[in-house]
Amino acid sequence: MAVDPLIELRDVNKHFGELHVLQDIHLTVGRGEVVVVIGPSGSGKSTLCRAINRLETVESGSITIDGRPLPAEGKGLAQLRAEVGMVFQSFNLFAHKTVVDNVSLAQVKVRKRKKDEADRRSRELLERVGLAAHADKFPAQLSGGQQQRVAIARALAMDPKALLFDEPTSALDPEMINEVLEVMQQLARDGMTMIVVTHEMGFARSAANRVVFMADGCIVEDRVPEDFFTSPSSDRAKDFLSKILKH
Ligand SMILES: Nc1ncnc2c1ncn2[C@@H]1O[C@H](COP(=O)(O)OP(=O)(O)OP(=O)(O)O)[C@@H](O)[C@H]1O
Ligand SMILES: [Mg+2]
Repeated sequence: MAVDPLIELRDVNKHFGELHVLQDIHLTVGRGEVVVVIGPSGSGKSTLCRAINRLETVESGSITIDGRPLPAEGKGLAQLRAEVGMVFQSFNLFAHKTVVDNVSLAQVKVRKRKKDEADRRSRELLERVGLAAHADKFPAQLSGGQQQRVAIARALAMDPKALLFDEPTSALDPEMINEVLEVMQQLARDGMTMIVVTHEMGFARSAANRVVFMADGCIVEDRVPEDFFTSPSSDRAKDFLSKILKH
């Protein structure tokens, strides 16, 4: 159990109609911890992430960030989305804005930074993700891997307490996956609290403190990676691993 919990879900339940998509979810993520979430398609991984960022509401149970319940709406919600950044499979950059403007936008709007101060911070972060030379280009001039690194810089620009990644590399060509995973590895080493939905098992083994395996809306296993990969205890996880490790 984490010593210093940053994200806590207690008894969280959610349905989509008849479908019980999150079932009695208990999950604690400690400050600085990296938790990789894996599981079959439709098991509720994205819904879990979206619930933590309140892109989805839940019916029962509690979700707290740094000891505070998720705000329902208004200013508090914008603040939450700044504190808990999210990186999706699709990068969602503004096509008509330059890279640096994409990274600065929410800093000005939500963090109320002056434009030149925001731009300075953006350029620092673009440097950190290896894109200093591309700051003044438009997203379409960048590869998918580069665009995803811009999306990571944009999330970092809000000085988040935690970052959620939902399959950040699954839309990328194979040769671009590593450059994104390396940025994420570095964030992990720097102590960022992260929940990462991914099928990149190499990343899970090397960067995760824990692996959470979901199936049918339930957390079936929550273990250190080594234990999970060498001796999964559930049949569901054994079956899942045998399928993904084959290819
Ligand atoms: N807005 C929605 N309305 C109705 N059903 C939904 C909605 N969003 C997701 N679902 C259903 O909830 C279940 C869980 O979806 P979710 O996207 O969380 O799964 P996932 O584990 O992320 O899957 P994948 O690996 O394919 O991304 C699926 O059966 C999905 O069809
Ligand atoms: Mg998903």
